[in-house]
Parts: sequence; structure tokens; C-alpha cells
Amino acid sequence: MTLQTAVADAATPTTDERVLKIRGGNTLRGKVRIGGAKNAALKALAATLLTSDEVVLNNVPMIADVISMAELLRAFGAEVSVDPERERVVVRAREIVRTDAPPELFKATRASVVVTGPVLARCGEISFSMPGGDDIGKRPIDMHLRGFQRMGAEVKQDRYGICARATKLQGARIYMDYPSHTGTEALLMASTLASGTTIIANASAEPEIVWLGKMLNRMGARISGLGSPIITVEGVERLQGVSEVCLPDRLEAGTYAIAAVITGGEIELKDVRQDHMLPLSEKLLQAGAEVWFRDNKMLVRAGKRLDAVDIQTLPFPGFPTDLQATFMPLLTQAHGVSRVHERVYEDRLRYTDELVKMGANIHVERFGERGEQLATTAVVTGPARLHGARVKSLDIRSAVSLVLAGLVAEGETQLIDVYHIDRGYARFVEKLTALGADLEDTGDPV
Ligand code: EPU
Repeated sequence: MTLQTAVADAATPTTDERVLKIRGGNTLRGKVRIGGAKNAALKALAATLLTSDEVVLNNVPMIADVISMAELLRAFGAEVSVDPERERVVVRAREIVRTDAPPELFKATRASVVVTGPVLARCGEISFSMPGGDDIGKRPIDMHLRGFQRMGAEVKQDRYGICARATKLQGARIYMDYPSHTGTEALLMASTLASGTTIIANASAEPEIVWLGKMLNRMGARISGLGSPIITVEGVERLQGVSEVCLPDRLEAGTYAIAAVITGGEIELKDVRQDHMLPLSEKLLQAGAEVWFRDNKMLVRAGKRLDAVDIQTLPFPGFPTDLQATFMPLLTQAHGVSRVHERVYEDRLRYTDELVKMGANIHVERFGERGEQLATTAVVTGPARLHGARVKSLDIRSAVSLVLAGLVAEGETQLIDVYHIDRGYARFVEKLTALGADLEDTGDPV
């Protein structure tokens, strides 16, 4: 099966017969190279629409979401070539041939929302339907739209979609109620070609945004304050092409680090950035694991016993919400009571029901300001004896959480809706197998 066909299948989420079987009990040891970050590569691909020059992106993870984004860029008229062997994508958007985003392609990922910034800035118009992505609670885009309005765009919204128009975006002072990741990216990219200075206050400081901003600067943008809550952008007339290397994926790195600890093993991660890993490494240390950093490597070794720890997810440099589900199986094996406070999304603990089917002792406190049934805090009591079960992925991170739980469960775990893994993790089964896991994917991974 070709990458494209596999992605087409992955993008058609049906509960098909594809099952990932995980036979637990093996200790994971060895070395693994961490690939490029999904949440950086997807935005860098969107940024290619800001210039008519060629942009070369290296170390791009070959995942389904990247292929979906490549299709979206093609729909806008860009020439896109994807080289899976070299993990390289080359894009040239000489001209943008349409300003209405095709709904099916736009809905394929959440990241597609960031193309709104470049297309609006370059063409003066963008119309689109709400983006898709993981089902982890409400995911509005009011901050993106308000930012465009502050920059002089007229934004119209009805039940069919959203349209933003501005002959020329104007620099503005924008305040974001919350440091939205994609919101910051969409506004950052739009403001590079606006006339005058834009200030984005309460901006997101996630590492992927710092990296994107540096890439935009190499394309000729004038951005300062990256990594701080106040980003300043002086608009320029045009941006030029660039060749970039995607930064390593801290979420993929975190996944293998947790896999080492939960299976009582030892893994060396190659291509990691220590400063991006600190929120996780601190929690691993608190739980009793051993962690060392050297150059761009991280060595993680299980300790003698796992102890309960509390985590709360927050925007960077807080503990990442994207590692919350991944960390949960580890807490099921820790001695004592751990509390997990999910503070970024209102409903990102639903997958714990699947862990409970495997024998985990997790109680989710569901409450909301207006009495809604929202899942915000999980109380985990361990260690629990996990056993194999047939479980279902709800999104990328919960899929991986269930695989990690399967690694320490007795017997065989069968995971369905495996396509979620293809969306975010390159060569997942291959990498885990090389580390000693016993996995069998009955379908064709991307
Ligand atoms: N929010 C609003 N209004 C907005 C935007 C966001 O209320 O206009 C709220 C959301 O409802 C949510 C919170 O703000 O409660 C955070 O949302 P944010 O906009 O920061 O998230 P995102 O940009 O949609 C990205 C990543 C997510 C990651 C979050 C947090 C991409 C494509 N997605 O989403 O990644 O969890 O930032 O870091 O970059 C994943 O990779 O599995 C994933 C879900």
C-alpha cells in the first residue's frame, strides 16, 4: 500500500477490522530516534502559503495529518512533493488559486485552521468550515477570528461556514483571552504581511510556536518576543523561501520515555531538547525514575518502585495536555493516589473509561460551572493489575495511552480505531517493536 492510499484509509475513520494487538509483559530497552514534531511540521506547511518561493522542510514526520495538510496545500494551488524516505516535503505556492477551503480537506485536521492566516494575508480573503481534529471537548476559534477582526478583517459566520475579508490587513494590538496554540500561529502568520506593527498579548509560548516564528524570520518576517507572552510583529511586503529542519517532537519523546519507565526498562532517546522535556522529566523523577540529559540525548531508566504524583496540565512550560493521557498508565502502576487535573481541555479524560476496562482504578470527577458533565480531574489509585481487553482509541494521545497500558497488562490488549496513531506517530509499531514490545498490527500503518 502506498503512503497516499494508507492515508486515504486513515482519513476514513471506520471501525474496520484493523486491530493493534499488544501482548504485555516485555521490558523495553534500547535506543530510539525521535522524529520531527507534528505540531510544528503542520504549521510550517501552512506557512509555505505565505510566499511564492520554494520552501523545503526536512525531518517532517511521515504521518497521516501531514499528508492531509499536503493535500490541502495542493487544493490551494501549491506544488507539493513528499519524500517519505528522506522525510522531506518541498512546497511551492507560486499562486493561490482559490480562497475557499475545501470542507473535506479542511475538516481532516485541527491544524488546517492555521492556513486561514496565510491565505487571508496573501489573498485578502478566506472562507472555510469549522476545522476537525480530536474529539477532546469544545474547540472554538473565537480568538483567531477576533484577532483577524482587530487587524481590520470583516468576519462573517453562518451555519455553513466562516468568511474573513480584508483588502490589506493592518497591524493591531490583539489580546488573547487564553494563549491558544493555533490561535497564536494563525495570527502570527497573518501579521507577517500586515501593514504596520501587530502586538499579540497573552500569546502562546509553546516550543513549536517559537520554532515557527524563527522560521518565519528566516523567510524575512520581523518577529520579536517569541517564547514570551507578548509577541511583536512588524509587517513586511513579502516573504521568501527557506530550507528548514523540523524540531524534535517532545510528545513522541515523552511517549518513549514513559514506555521505558512503565515497563521497568531503559531507553535512550536521540534528538531531544532538554528544555522542552523538563515538565515531563520532573514528573518522572518525582515518580521515582532516573533521567539524564547529554547533548541532544535523554536517557530514561525505571527506578526500584513507582510512586504516585499529581499533575496538572497547563500551557507551556506547564505539563503538556498532550502527555496527560500518555502519563496516565504510569500512574495506574504507581503506589498511592495520584491526581490528574486537566486544565486545558474540558473533556480530555473520557479515554480513562477504556483504561478502567483494563483494570485501572481511576475515578473521574465530572463537574462544570453550570452543572455540565465535564471531566476535569482524575483520581488514580495504584498499583492496579492491568489485564488485556478490547479497547477503543478516541484520539491520538488516548490511543497511545492504551498501547502503553497494554505493555504492562497481563495477556493481550486489542486496540481498535488504530488510525488515530497514524495521524500523529510515525513508525510507532516499528519503533516499539525494536525496543522489545510484542505488537501486531493487523492493518497497514502509514
Ligand atoms: N480555546 C478557546 N477559543 C479559541 C481557541 C482555543 O476557547 O479561539 C480554548 C480551547 O477550547 C481549549 C484551549 O483554549 O480549551 C486550548 O486550545 P488551543 O487553541 O491552545 O489548542 P489548539 O491550538 O486547538 C493545539 C494542538 C493540540 C494541543 C493544544 C494545546 C495543534 C494542531 N493542536 O491545539 O494538539 O493539545 O494546542 O497545546 O497544534 C495533539 O497533538 O494531539 C493535539 C490535540
